[in-house]
Amino acid sequence: MEIIVQPDSQAASRIASRIISRLIREKTRPVLGLATGNTPLQVYKELVRMHREEGLSFAGVTTFNLDEYVGLSPDHPSSFHAFMARNLFHHIDVPRESIHIPDGQAKDIPGFCRRYEEDIRSSGGIDLQVLGIGTDGHIGFNEPSSSLASRTRIKTLTAQTRRDNASSFDGEEHVPYHCITMGVGTILDSRMCLLLAFGKKKARAVAAACEGPVTAMVPASALQMHPRAVVIVDGEASSGLERADYYQWVYAHKPDWQKY
Ligand code: F6R
Repeated sequence: MEIIVQPDSQAASRIASRIISRLIREKTRPVLGLATGNTPLQVYKELVRMHREEGLSFAGVTTFNLDEYVGLSPDHPSSFHAFMARNLFHHIDVPRESIHIPDGQAKDIPGFCRRYEEDIRSSGGIDLQVLGIGTDGHIGFNEPSSSLASRTRIKTLTAQTRRDNASSFDGEEHVPYHCITMGVGTILDSRMCLLLAFGKKKARAVAAACEGPVTAMVPASALQMHPRAVVIVDGEASSGLERADYYQWVYAHKPDWQKY
C-alpha cells in the first residue's frame, strides 16, 4: 500500500487527477472504476477542467460505477446515476454506451449482478478503481462483515451509512436500505486501486484500513492485499495513522521517475 499524505483535499485531488489523466492519455481503451459521494467531487471537477482546457478526451474510456441504491430510478436526483451525470458525464465526451452503473430498478437483481461482472470482464477488466471510504470502513457499499471475496450483489446498508448519506436525501427516512455494489473481490481484481479520504471523520476508518489487521469488519483493509493500492489522504484523515511521518518522508523522497 502506498500512503500519500497531503496538506488538504485540493492537493490530494490534484494528484489523483494526474494519475487518472495519465492512464487515459497513455492507454488506448482504458477502463475506469468510479465512485460517488463527496470525496471524488474535486477530482471530477479537475478532470472536467482538463477535458475543457487541456484536450483530455474520454472518447475511448469505459466506466463502471461501484454502486447504486435499490429502488431509485436513474433520474431520481439522489441516485448515483444522476450524481454521475451532474458531476462528470454531462461535461465530458465519454460515449453513453461506455458508461455502466448498477441498475437500481433491476427486476432480476442476481441476474443483473452476474451480467455486471461479465461486462467488467469482457471490457478487459478495470484498470483503475477510484474509491472513497465510509466512516465504518466500507468500500463500495461493502459494509462491515462483507466477504473479502464478494462479487457484485445486493447489500443492506448499515444505520451509520444511512445516517452519513442522509444529506443527499430529504431526511434519513428516505435513504434506501438496499444497494447493488461491486464486491470486495470485484474491487481487488482492478489493476490499480486509488482510495481517497478527507476530513477528521474518516481518520479512524483510514487508520484501521491501512494499519489495522485485514478483516471483513473493515472491508477497506482488504486493499492491504492488493499489489497496487494507493491511498491519498488529507492531514485530518491521516491523523489516526501511527506512521504518518514515515509515509510523508517516503513520498517526499520518491525518485522523479516514480512521481505522479
Ligand atoms: C460511493 C461509495 C462509497 C463512498 C463512501 C464515502 O460510490 O461507494 O463507498 O465512497 O461512502 O462517501 P463520501 O465520499 O460521501 O464520504
